Amino acid sequence: MHEVVKEYYGKNLESNQDLKTAACCDASAQPTWLKPLLATVHPEVLERYYGCGLICPPLLKGCSVLDLGCGAGRDVYVLSQLVGAEGCVVGIDMTQGQLDIARRHRKHHADSVGYDNVMFVEGILEDLDSIGLEAESFDVVVSNCVLNLATDKGAVLGGVMRVLKPGGEFYFSDVYADRRLPEEVRRDKALYGECLGGALYWNDFIQLAKRQGFLDPRLVCIDNREIDVTPFSKLTKGTRFFSATYRLFKLDGIEAFCEDYGQAVCYRGTIADHPHSFTLDDHHVMEAGRIFLVCGNTYRMLHDTRFIDHFDFFGTFAEHFGIFEGCGVSAPVDGSRDAPAQACC
Ligand SMILES: C[S@@+](CC[C@H](N)C(=O)[O-])C[C@H]1O[C@@H](n2cnc3c(N)ncnc32)[C@H](O)[C@@H]1O
Repeated sequence: MHEVVKEYYGKNLESNQDLKTAACCDASAQPTWLKPLLATVHPEVLERYYGCGLICPPLLKGCSVLDLGCGAGRDVYVLSQLVGAEGCVVGIDMTQGQLDIARRHRKHHADSVGYDNVMFVEGILEDLDSIGLEAESFDVVVSNCVLNLATDKGAVLGGVMRVLKPGGEFYFSDVYADRRLPEEVRRDKALYGECLGGALYWNDFIQLAKRQGFLDPRLVCIDNREIDVTPFSKLTKGTRFFSATYRLFKLDGIEAFCEDYGQAVCYRGTIADHPHSFTLDDHHVMEAGRIFLVCGNTYRMLHDTRFIDHFDFFGTFAEHFGIFEGCGVSAPVDGSRDAPAQACC
């Protein structure tokens, strides 16, 4: 399937107008802070944007960021401005045509922002070792509509775990299915190229992430608008596809379930562009100045990461009070996550 993907993104598609479905189209509204950053990106790069979400977590200044499947580099160029001159962004892709466009506009970007902190590397995501990336060398790994195209998704997640620094996170958007796809659907080349055929059933993704050591995957947001797959509906039948953004932290001490140690946090309101609240995931939206009860895993995601200076922390791990109320498993795609019972994860 690697050759199918290279052909699709290197030759078949000339711009995002050529896509047959909206799977690789980020339909969400752009936040205000993103607009000036996008304005510096060359139009040819923007035309070749095939992402399905926003992969810019807060607080990136000075970070080293790796973009898996960077394509023509739109997100690399946006992230380059968020990490600033002291940070750096490395984009990896296996499709020469995509990398050619990304590299062609490196000077345009450096001239626009005043520094050059990006690099584009040819490589296969299933084998990050062969690219020579050092273990524990990135603060944040991102990816936009790519994991579904990987032929060995476990190997990609394993590589991410290796290159992330302790306390780092994998923050990525991708396409998910509401059920497992049959073999004939997964083998269809056009469907695969469109980021649908290789999409994981959401619960298989969660179990895969856990097997690679990311024990508590957090759903940041899901686009509840089902992706319209009309040109392929004979093949996909009743399967529903969604794009979603997850964050996976590399942290010691994360537990398989959310346990209650009687802890709480209070957001200080000090992160740029987030003065009123901080969103860790779809049900941890913490208002500035307000005490928020947390499980042990959430405590670690804020305390043992780059977020530590922006919170006050209450409690320790000395006493255990049982499972954190509401900790359970639910389908992210059927709306049930909005139910009040989903208080934890
Ligand atoms: C849907 S496009 C998204 C590109 C980019 N992230 C964006 O948002 O515009 C998928 C990209 O991932 C790359 N890709 C897919 N599978 C890959 C793999 N196994 N190794 C390296 N690159 C891969 C493709 O070459 C393509 O450029």
